[in-house]
Amino acid sequence: MDFELRPLSRTEAAVADADALIVLWRDADDQDAPSAEDALGVWVQQAVRDGDLARDAGQWLAGHRVHGVRARRVVAVRCGDGAARKVRQAVAAAWGALKGAAPRTVLIQLGAADAAALAAAVLGIAEASYRYTTTLTKPQPRALQRVIVGVADAPSLHEAFEWAVATVHGQELAKEWANRPANHARPVDLARAAQALAGPDVEVEVLGPKEVEKLGMGALLAVARGSHEPLRFIVLRYQGAPKREAPVVLVGKGITFDTGGISLKPAADMDEMKFDMSGAASVLGVFAALPRLRPALNVVGLIPACENMPGGGATKPGDVVRSMSGQTIEVLNTDAEGRLILCDALTYAQRFKPRAIVDVATLTGACVIALGAVRSGLYANDDALAQALLQAGEAALDPCWRMPLDDDYAEALKSNFADVANVGGRPAGSVTAAKFLQRFVGDTPWAHLDIAGTAWKGGKDKGATGRPVPLLLRYLAELGRQGGATRRGRRKGAAA
Ligand code: BES
Ligand code: MN
Ligand code: ZN
Repeated sequence: MDFELRPLSRTEAAVADADALIVLWRDADDQDAPSAEDALGVWVQQAVRDGDLARDAGQWLAGHRVHGVRARRVVAVRCGDGAARKVRQAVAAAWGALKGAAPRTVLIQLGAADAAALAAAVLGIAEASYRYTTTLTKPQPRALQRVIVGVADAPSLHEAFEWAVATVHGQELAKEWANRPANHARPVDLARAAQALAGPDVEVEVLGPKEVEKLGMGALLAVARGSHEPLRFIVLRYQGAPKREAPVVLVGKGITFDTGGISLKPAADMDEMKFDMSGAASVLGVFAALPRLRPALNVVGLIPACENMPGGGATKPGDVVRSMSGQTIEVLNTDAEGRLILCDALTYAQRFKPRAIVDVATLTGACVIALGAVRSGLYANDDALAQALLQAGEAALDPCWRMPLDDDYAEALKSNFADVANVGGRPAGSVTAAKFLQRFVGDTPWAHLDIAGTAWKGGKDKGATGRPVPLLLRYLAELGRQGGATRRGRRKGAAA
């Protein structure tokens, strides 16, 4: 899908060429006095006066061959005060009214929008028109190929537009891999997907069981043991600043299927555990977007990838394993596998002497109970990092909420047979999981995003959301801007 940002007035939008036109209508527009040439303004205001366009965001009015409008189909849609959330809601509603006609080109007339509203329109139309097709034999391809966004002040919105387009690209790659069933998204497939992202700015290295064993990653190996699928440990490196600059390390949980292992999960909805590599998918999505965004910083992506299966070789409850850090772990519940593969990745992350580590994981059902599908759980040992991620989440409409890390929560992880147990019982299950991870990061600024509730939707709209790709890319773009002094020259001919 292509996007274009175009400086357009409403009068110009009316005569622009497109299969369909979506006109965002603010409540304040009710009070305007449209000129006689402003066919759209006159048309919508007439409907408002007739009581045919109620005031709630998302209310729409559709027309066909409207006088003075070049596009055959036009939808005017309410977006309240024009805030980003309202714009996203409005665009989704308008797409609902249009999608039956399968337009190939849509012009979204936003008018006087700020950066957040513009990004919301771009991400909103992508989200609404997204379709998963990979494992369908009669796929209905996405008809929508081109989106033009008409705004009053295009130059001031250029940066926000570039960010949004890169984010759509990253988020859609994340959705694609998270949505693929586990037999189409094995650890080896994730490794190949990562290798496909290699390019002038991105290096990819893939480790297998032998290398991982040599590194002493006993916790990752303990999870992978029950499956016939060989594990992969994926390392991605984006260089946007001089090599000596400390990178941000992103770590994504890559359990390509979580049966629970010997601590087997119940059958109901177990299929959804194909989404248990959503953290990994979001790291892939970020690395797909980085070469387009080109922030001036270095980023490392780490993806421990394996299946969690019961089997003759599987780890048993009570087994004690040795992590790469040297700490021994009593595996009381093999279904608490995410923290086991992550702890070795967090230890590996230290070799990059990172300025910050952010891990992303569908880690606990308890986080779903705490925060539902609205906000991801955020844990951090560093207030500045927490603040930056919270703000990025708000700005990108991909919000998270900070959770506690009091040491008292770690009491639950005490073991008589190892340095630490991998579970702490039901109370504060999302917090004790984070406390487990914290043991492996030392003093490095670290944050953990528990995306168990936000990474996918169940029910009739079952599918990946691509979260938290927008949050992460907003955070990285902002860091890149702050480090602008050391910005590396853009390659000749590279897209801005
Ligand atoms: N992948 C699951 C977490 C999960 C469960 C995410 C449901 C989304 C929906 C994770 O590996 C897991 O099984 N966690 C256990 C931990 C428990 C054994 C301490 C859980 O949350 O039940
Ligand atoms: Mn599990
Ligand atoms: Zn899991």
